[in-house]
This record gives sequence, structure tokens and C-alpha cells, in this order.
Amino acid sequence: MSDRGGFTLWFTGLSGAGKTTISHIVGPELERRGLVVDYLDGDVVRTHLSKGLGFSKEDRDTNIERIGWVASRLTRAGAAVLVSAISPYSETRAHVRGMVEEHGAFVETYVQASVEECARRDVKGLYAKAFAGEIKGFTGVDDPYEAPEQAEVVLETEGQTPEESAAQVLAELEARGLVPAAVAS
Ligand code: ADX
Repeated sequence: MSDRGGFTLWFTGLSGAGKTTISHIVGPELERRGLVVDYLDGDVVRTHLSKGLGFSKEDRDTNIERIGWVASRLTRAGAAVLVSAISPYSETRAHVRGMVEEHGAFVETYVQASVEECARRDVKGLYAKAFAGEIKGFTGVDDPYEAPEQAEVVLETEGQTPEESAAQVLAELEARGLVPAAVAS
């Protein structure tokens, strides 16, 4: 295991922007480099730790605070924690940043894609429902998303592949001394 200490890589962005996809390319590469990796994905967390929570501001904040708390504990234990959650509110992201930074680095990564592009991708078919009014309070459609203004990493996913986004993340982590450079095999 790395002796560099744990950190949290926090992917924020609209539903369908590519947070989970990119994190699952980055994670295995971190494991290849000897790190212990854990994933906290909003969709998954909402099936247990945050089961029963909805999408009001209050519930979203509770969900993010719970994820932040677990991320801070895992960071403390030395893991590379990959969070994928819309986390739409800047203030709440700032709060979980503070929790994590007590134990290690917090690398806020804005997975940027316009609502139009996410709706075009519509992997889960949820944008179509949101535009039809069948889902109310959908992020980016009729619920807010506060884009980060000072994220450590900004991924412009409309102009790059998920592999290219993952490579950009890995380069940033290397530059920050959080992961060792890839060894030639
Ligand atoms: S967060 O706002 O609390 O950070 P989280 O990332 O956990 O959200 O969950 C978002 C996922 O829940 C979306 O990818 C989508 O699959 C689903 N979802 C269901 N309803 C909504 C909604 N109203 N707004 C956003 N996402 C929703």
C-alpha cells in the first residue's frame, strides 16, 4: 500500500455527465499502482446508507453529508476514495471538503457536460421523463446545479472520451504527489 496517505477524489456534475464511468476507469488504474480504492456512488449509496432519502435540498444535503463522512473516515484509513454524486450545492461540497481535509487531500473534480448533452445521452431515460414533467425537481431541468468555481480538476466531457478524462485525472493526481507515476510494464 502507498505510504502517501489517503485522499478523496470527488466527482460532481449532472446526472449522465460521466462521473461513475470515469471513476471506474480511474479506480482500477489506482489499484494497479498499489492504492486501496473505494467507491461511493450516489446511486449505490441511496440503496442502503441513504435509503429512503429523496431529492429535496434537505435530503440531498443529508445524502452528501453521509457520503462525506464515510469518505473522511476512509481517507483517514489511507484509501483512495472515489465519490460520484451530483452534489449540486457548493456550500455542502465545501462542508464535506472540510471534513475530508482533516485527514487528507480533497480533489474536487467537475465532470462538465451541458444539460443538452446529458439529455442527448440520456443513459437512464430520466431526462425524457423530467422534460415530460413525469419527474419533478430533476437536477439541471427544474432543480439547481451550482457548478464549482474552483474545482481542482475540470473535465470537459463533451470534447473528450471517458478514457481521456480519466488520463487527465491521473495526471492531476500524479502532479499533486497523490499517486506514483505509472511504471512501464
Ligand atoms: S445528489 O443530488 O444527492 O448528489 P445522487 O448523486 O445521490 O444525487 O443521485 C443522483 C441520481 O439519482 C441520478 O443519477 C439519477 O439516476 C437519480 N435521480 C432520481 N431522481 C432525481 C432527481 N430528481 N434529480 C437528480 N437525480 C435523480
